[in-house]
Amino acid sequence: MDGLDRYQLGLGTWENDNPDACARSVETALELGYRHIDTAQAYGNEDAVGRGIANSSVPREEVFLATKVDTGNLGYHDVHETTGESLDKLRTDYLDLLYVHWPVDAYDAEATLAAFQDLYDDGTIERVGVSNFEVRHLDEARELLDAPIYAHQIELHPYLQQDELRSYAADHDHHVVAYSPLARGEVLDDPVLESIADKHDASVPQVTLAWHREIGVAAIPKATSPEHIEDNWGAREVDLDDEDHDRIADLDEGRREVDFPGAPWNN
Ligand SMILES: NC(=O)c1ccc[n+]([C@@H]2O[C@H](COP(=O)([O-])OP(=O)(O)OC[C@H]3O[C@@H](n4cnc5c(N)ncnc54)[C@H](OP(=O)(O)O)[C@@H]3O)[C@@H](O)[C@H]2O)c1
Repeated sequence: MDGLDRYQLGLGTWENDNPDACARSVETALELGYRHIDTAQAYGNEDAVGRGIANSSVPREEVFLATKVDTGNLGYHDVHETTGESLDKLRTDYLDLLYVHWPVDAYDAEATLAAFQDLYDDGTIERVGVSNFEVRHLDEARELLDAPIYAHQIELHPYLQQDELRSYAADHDHHVVAYSPLARGEVLDDPVLESIADKHDASVPQVTLAWHREIGVAAIPKATSPEHIEDNWGAREVDLDDEDHDRIADLDEGRREVDFPGAPWNN
């Protein structure tokens, strides 16, 4: 199975909570050409995502399917047990990518990563991912794992450009996957992005997602309606120039949409 080099643009599913709507979004995206689907135990929609994949005409082995182990399930035995439950819900016997969702709560680097290593060794998961890690967590995980870290999923959009974690990824040869790539909708009315979008006869989400591609990160916008799913897919046709990149670089203000006191960067 090809990885994120090929499937740079994926579909996010957080808060796609209505099971029928979620299954329909996944099916719509796959029929349109998306091949990378992102879910998580915590989203409570793995069953709907599995149904969407099964309902589509795309064979499972052509889908790059990623889920995440919830923070309360990161003990050694719980990783094994709950990954089994995820597989059942997703109607599959393997995952293309399994992430540690957050290095908090039941996360214990040695025990958690030993379980991920087992799942990698027995072929249940094809790649190990981590999410919301700081540099110190990445250093520790690389030390403990024999398997490579394949991807680091972090919030990343024009207002939070994550230079440090992007250069760490380049130095250590793992992918960055941008979550909340549209800043949870906050980019939509941005005047700079609007003017770049006008120039290219494109939409603001298309410009934003083209920017992610051109800076070398994967992106997983969540979209529910066929219109949004299709609009975002159109980003693949948009090419930005150096002036656009300079203007978007200036939008970085370190602003997070996903934050809470216990988040790793606050501790
Ligand atoms: N690892 C983590 O801790 C973590 C945290 C947050 C998110 N994620 C993942 O990243 C995914 C994306 O992040 P996100 O859901 O937070 O935010 P997002 O993708 O930045 O934004 C989603 C919002 O943008 C709207 N939207 C999408 N495409 C649009 C378009 N073309 N035009 C207008 N509006 C559009 C969606 O509306 P509709 O739904 O109405 O289409 C939704 O309200 C999540 O779904 C999840 O899979 C991971």
